[in-house]
Amino acid sequence: MHDVHRLRRALWTALSLPIAAGCTSTDPVPKPQVEPSKAGPTPPPDDAKDNVEAVERVPDSRPWACEVAHWCEARAEAIALGSPNVALTNGCPATVELPEGTTSIGAGTTVGATSVTATLVHTLPPDVVIEGGKPDCCYSWTYECRGGRPLVIGEELVVARIDAAFESWSESAVGVRLPAGRDQRDQLARAWLCDALFEHASIASFARSTLELMAVGAPASLLAETHRAALDEVRHAALCFDLAAAYGAPATAPGPLPCAGPRASSRSSVARTTFVEGCVGETVAALVAKRAASACTDPVVTAVLETIADDEARHAALAWKVVQWLLRDDDGTIAAELKTVWEAVVVGGNEITDGDGRVALAEYGRLGARATRVAAQQAHVQIVGPMLDALIQQSSRARESCAGSVWA
Ligand SMILES: [Fe+2]
Ligand SMILES: [Fe+2]
Repeated sequence: MHDVHRLRRALWTALSLPIAAGCTSTDPVPKPQVEPSKAGPTPPPDDAKDNVEAVERVPDSRPWACEVAHWCEARAEAIALGSPNVALTNGCPATVELPEGTTSIGAGTTVGATSVTATLVHTLPPDVVIEGGKPDCCYSWTYECRGGRPLVIGEELVVARIDAAFESWSESAVGVRLPAGRDQRDQLARAWLCDALFEHASIASFARSTLELMAVGAPASLLAETHRAALDEVRHAALCFDLAAAYGAPATAPGPLPCAGPRASSRSSVARTTFVEGCVGETVAALVAKRAASACTDPVVTAVLETIADDEARHAALAWKVVQWLLRDDDGTIAAELKTVWEAVVVGGNEITDGDGRVALAEYGRLGARATRVAAQQAHVQIVGPMLDALIQQSSRARESCAGSVWA
């Protein structure tokens, strides 16, 4: 059974609740009691797209990208690295491609191991005279982290910075198989630091989620699961810092993280943020971690990735349960908003082609950027979309059932 199908089945089972079990907001959240095949909506069948090598459509919105790097250079250099067949803006390619494994480019700028495509963010007009080699094409790109539940403040994803002045989060020395090359070891250390900081931020994200859920009267079961998930993230962060240290990261101490207070909480707003940050983010993280574990040949790293994959799948199920609970008393408003959010997340992607061998670190548990994007796209289209449709359908049927009740 393919990993996409297994994850979809697990989530579907966790959400397989009887339709129209109750018509009031005071009903407790029921536990799964019936087989998925008897629970109304059924998962869509697998299809041939469960294939990493397939040509895929990549969503523009990528909440699993957690760090931005920048590069500015003269046009000639940018054009030399320009992606094939991309448009020029003021003589600068819209995107530049970097061979995976690139560790530095430009004047001291360091690029992550799993960064591939940089996107143009700024140009100078072509008729401007560049003095002293001043750069005229500026790009930015993101690290392709596994993701998980992000900490969003305003419109920004927020993570702490590594700061050796603080206490290390690495709990134990782990024996991993080290690549021979210093560059690869550095890339692995950076990649695991990136994941560690994202996991660290997830702790705060779940803490804020507790307050936001309480503000809309969430039941105890959801609050308890949210607290357990936050503790999972503490463990994930420590595991990732352990691996970063094993590959030679000089410091594994997250510095201060901006304080993220609860956002204005209505049932609609909690549904929207839970959907994006949990249903999408955690589902993608679970699949990426599972796929990375499958490709990894180091048993120590594989064990970490398996642990994280299982936990993230449970966190994804929690997010879906929250959305399901919020949809139970929905008059159609939340459902419509979630569909709009979903379309904004998944529509407008770029075409990517199959892998081209840039998976040098897969045996160490790091998927290449393209494989990460494909996994994310598959999670979006084959899991998140059908799950959302099924929950909305379930909510709609429950509403119709209540409307038809004599005592409603
Ligand atoms: Fe996590
Ligand atoms: Fe998580």
